Amino acid sequence: MNTPALATAVDLISAPLIHKGKVRELYDLGEHLLIVVTDRISAFDYVLDPPVPDKGNVLNGLSAYWFEQTEEIQPNHVVHTDVTKLGDFVKQPERLAGRIMVSRKAQRVDIECVVRGYVTGGGWRQYVETGEVNGIKLPEGLRKNGKLDEPIFTPAGKNDVGHDEDIPFEEMVNRVGREVAEELRDRSLKLYEFGRDYCAKRGIILADCKFEFGLIDGQVILIDEMLTPDSSRFWAEENYALDIEIDSMDKEPVRTYLAGSDWDKNSPPPPLPTEVVEATSSRYREIYSRLTV
Ligand SMILES: Nc1ncnc2c1ncn2[C@@H]1O[C@H](COP(=O)(O)OP(=O)(O)OP(=O)(O)O)[C@@H](O)[C@H]1O
Ligand SMILES: [Mg+2]
Repeated sequence: MNTPALATAVDLISAPLIHKGKVRELYDLGEHLLIVVTDRISAFDYVLDPPVPDKGNVLNGLSAYWFEQTEEIQPNHVVHTDVTKLGDFVKQPERLAGRIMVSRKAQRVDIECVVRGYVTGGGWRQYVETGEVNGIKLPEGLRKNGKLDEPIFTPAGKNDVGHDEDIPFEEMVNRVGREVAEELRDRSLKLYEFGRDYCAKRGIILADCKFEFGLIDGQVILIDEMLTPDSSRFWAEENYALDIEIDSMDKEPVRTYLAGSDWDKNSPPPPLPTEVVEATSSRYREIYSRLTV
């Protein structure tokens, strides 16, 4: 890896743009969906400037890797990741190599299927306020970033405007029906356990993660991305042992820089200095090689 940064693919693709997220772009190929992972990076809900070289390739490469590793236990949406098969849909295919995924279109279930093995982030904030996370009562006296005895399933309603909304499991049942809710919960927990055990062998803690599912001909399919740093928290074991204020492996340089700047988090953030961008790029490459090589 060592790809020039790509901020957007809109000029490189001749298919309708369906959706532009903070990081990824979705194009309509007719029968299939084209997902392009750019090098954009976000923090505190802002897209930062400039993009981070290799981030898109790492995210897409990790997703593709995990989808393949788990396809026996969980069917997924991947058709292929080969830019040369896209023919006239793309210009300058070399700029898109490694960052595309052609997927089957699914009818999305509007729930983010979150699994937490540790109490951190938004889960920690809920616990401090209520002693519960998404309606699940947890033991008293847990410490921030502490490991839970068992992983918990904490769904969120997908909300296209604004923030996803944490909901108790019973609310998920109301929204999607008991059968689908239980199936998605069980599959999510199984996939988390797979990822957790796999990462542990490589000295990485999978603190939590998010999956999305869709339906194709009545079958439950894993869609979107899978166990990437944008959808999961990876902690290096060696840092976890040292530091109670552990940050995820990927965005640590960015957050440290922003925390030390005078940015107020309510206006566009300052541009990232070159050394912060480079440090972040190497974090992504490191995660990729620690997990897949
Ligand atoms: N196979 C699929 N079929 C249908 N929809 C899919 C499929 N795979 C992914 N999606 C949807 O594509 C979208 C990808 O968007 P993306 O995650 O980039 O942005 P976002 O979630 O809207 O916002 P954010 O930038 O905050 O992540 C998601 O809405 C996801 O549910
Ligand atoms: Mg998303």
